[in-house]
Amino acid sequence: MPDDREPTRVDYLRLIPSPAELDAIDERQRREATLERQAEERYHRNRRLIESNACVTEEDHRRIVRATLSPTQPLSQVRPWSTTGQAFLVLLGPTGRGKTVSAGWWHANHGGIAVTARELCIAHAQEHAEARKLRALVASERLVTIDELGHERDADEAESGIFETVNMRLKRGFKTLLLGNIARVPKKATADAPATAPRTDFATRYGERTWKRIRAQGHIYVVTGPCLREAIEERR
Ligand SMILES: Nc1ncnc2c1ncn2[C@@H]1O[C@H](COP(=O)(O)OP(=O)(O)O)[C@@H](O)[C@H]1O
Ligand SMILES: [Mg+2]
Repeated sequence: MPDDREPTRVDYLRLIPSPAELDAIDERQRREATLERQAEERYHRNRRLIESNACVTEEDHRRIVRATLSPTQPLSQVRPWSTTGQAFLVLLGPTGRGKTVSAGWWHANHGGIAVTARELCIAHAQEHAEARKLRALVASERLVTIDELGHERDADEAESGIFETVNMRLKRGFKTLLLGNIARVPKKATADAPATAPRTDFATRYGERTWKRIRAQGHIYVVTGPCLREAIEERR
């Protein structure tokens, strides 16, 4: 049967978005692209932080991945240093000041691995497969954190393990973040080096040659202020 009804008219002009609607579409697309980029950045931060083996709590892990860390002294040092050509940054201070979290931030955003001074120095003193593997890893990673300086098994092992690591990484032009609690670094004080200042503590434990290399290619920062565990919890 022939259809003699009028064809439906389409007002094509009404389908063309107005400039304001076009702006809204642009804006929505920009927002979606930003959210997508942020999700991708979170994904990579999470992956790099896990791979780095940095020893942070679950809560700190989440803050690092979501980029919701509060500003701290260690972060104010690590952030700018991470984009310089300087080989070393040493952060010394009591526990609970955000040193390890700042290393987590570094690895999550830039890659690399974290080891403790104790495991590294043990690996330098031994010859089994695991020890060689850790030494090779620290020798080949561009970005390495050595955490918990001062907690090595003994002073001689500490001095030679840290010297060899610092020397080799300096030659290769790799970046190293060294973290420790100076108050707990056992002191080998001598008459002309009363182990009080951080310079003296560090140089006394790890040796003048290590100290000189670090000074030539980096800097040392003493973290002060209250323990962040309480300070940041209180602000919440
Ligand atoms: N940037 C930060 N933002 C929020 N909380 C932090 C931050 N840095 C440290 N903290 C808090 O302080 C605690 C101790 O930090 P941590 O890095 O382990 O200290 P340190 O290595 O100096 O002993 C963390 O578990 C966290 O609760
Ligand atoms: Mg720590």
